[in-house]
Amino acid sequence: MNSLTFKYLLLIIGLIGTHCRPSTESEESEESSNEIDDDDETPDQVPHNDKETEGELVEGDILSSGGVFRNANVQPKMWPGGEVFYEKPRTTTFSSGVIDNITQAMADITAASGNCIVFKERTIRTGKRNYIQIKKDRGCFSKVGMVGGPQPLSLGLGCYKKGVIIHEFLHALGVNHEHTRHDRDQHIEVKKNNVLSLDVYNNNFKKRIIHDDYGIPYCYMSIMHYSNTAFSKSDNDKTIIPLINPSLKLGQRVKLDSCDIKLLKEMYKCTPGKGSGIPKEDSSDDSYSSYSSYSLYKKPGT
Ligand SMILES: *[C@@H]1O[C@H](CO)[C@@H](O)[C@H](O)[C@H]1NC(C)=O
Repeated sequence: MNSLTFKYLLLIIGLIGTHCRPSTESEESEESSNEIDDDDETPDQVPHNDKETEGELVEGDILSSGGVFRNANVQPKMWPGGEVFYEKPRTTTFSSGVIDNITQAMADITAASGNCIVFKERTIRTGKRNYIQIKKDRGCFSKVGMVGGPQPLSLGLGCYKKGVIIHEFLHALGVNHEHTRHDRDQHIEVKKNNVLSLDVYNNNFKKRIIHDDYGIPYCYMSIMHYSNTAFSKSDNDKTIIPLINPSLKLGQRVKLDSCDIKLLKEMYKCTPGKGSGIPKEDSSDDSYSSYSSYSLYKKPGT
């Protein structure tokens, strides 16, 4: 086989691979989310776990909510009082090492925010209605912001690095991908023709129209930025080119950048010593008695 035929073969295999996976993913996710509610949830795009290398990304990780977030042009909802409730990740699902990383990811966000954003374990006793369910689905994805009710945050295989987990939690806190900012064209060039397909482009690279940047400048090193070759047809074809310096490496999945921290503090109206200025919910609204009518959980003993 000469090298041209070989390349052609690889391309075909590649195409089959990329075309088959999204549909399995949608079905899988729809199935698993139907257990939660009637929301038809599908991740916008399957993460390229196979492309993940040190500092590389797991992409396409925003879970749309019944079409509402499909264009990602809805202002995400903040968690009242900066309190994020989550269901304890199961030890039957995740190894203790992964659970350590989940715990550390949350601790990093809390510390960076100056204790303004806190994560609290949801229990049946506290009966919180809105909370994150950390699951092991296919790929890494999350809803953006607090959507109401239990909301999945998936950490599938290849999603266990602390930085990747922080990235997903930032989505859940209401942060979108940096490269979809309304003003992105002043900072990066998106090479549409190098993106795997139009579908992938539409789901992962479209510029947001409604977007609050909270006055934080565009951030190339954000934990929420895609890499230079994200969703590329080939690793040699860049999909995102930084305008200030074409060879600048974009994004990372190691830690919160200082710009990520600034953004979080603005979003959650963090005041040192005073916590978040996002109004707390009326606690009666979230009490166990009103919660018990919710179909997912039964009162103990029934
Ligand atoms: C936890 O995250 C670190 C990176 O911060 C990574 O090196 C390590 O492999 C992760 N642990 C597990 C169990 O995946």
